Amino acid sequence: MSNKLVVYFSYTNHTKMIAEDIKKSLQCDILELKPVKPYSNDYDKVVDEEQNNESSKKTREIEKIDVDLSNYSEIILGTPVWWYTIAPVVRTFLKENDLSGKRIIPFATNAGWLGRTFKEIEELCPNSVIEKEMNIVFTQDYKENQLVTSPDEIDKWVKEL
Ligand SMILES: Cc1cc2nc3c(=O)[nH]c(=O)nc-3n(C[C@H](O)[C@H](O)[C@H](O)COP(=O)(O)O)c2cc1C
Repeated sequence: MSNKLVVYFSYTNHTKMIAEDIKKSLQCDILELKPVKPYSNDYDKVVDEEQNNESSKKTREIEKIDVDLSNYSEIILGTPVWWYTIAPVVRTFLKENDLSGKRIIPFATNAGWLGRTFKEIEELCPNSVIEKEMNIVFTQDYKENQLVTSPDEIDKWVKEL
């Protein structure tokens, strides 16, 4: 079994797209984090509610994880940026699972405002080795599914993982 695992959450599929590419390139396992209560399909409503509810401090209950994390020494962790940091679903994952001793390679998809995303991952995983962080920018209109970061830059990063 590969000792690398891609773990990600995605609401509008940007992070999913990158996570699936990584899985394909590295031929490793993948785990999608899913909220027990799905988010509304109304994008603007989710953006507003998450701001009003202080998304940056919240957790959100996630579905039970069906992989044994102890089988993996490296976690490639993907999150969309929600209000300048990790999404609540990813925060729940990091709070509920001890990733001490593992290598974590975070990537964050966003529209240009990365904020303290990588810093929060470091804070939540003080006993992990966190490196090769990758900021992946898409255009502001999420429906375009259009990268701003060059695909070559992403390929180069993936090849070095
Ligand atoms: C609730 C919410 C908050 C967001 N906050 C930010 C932000 O602070 N900075 C940013 O650059 N983009 C922000 N975005 C845009 C997303 O980070 C960006 O579209 C991301 O690539 C979406 O990933 P996904 O398709 O995997 O969900 C936000 C989107 C949502 C839904």
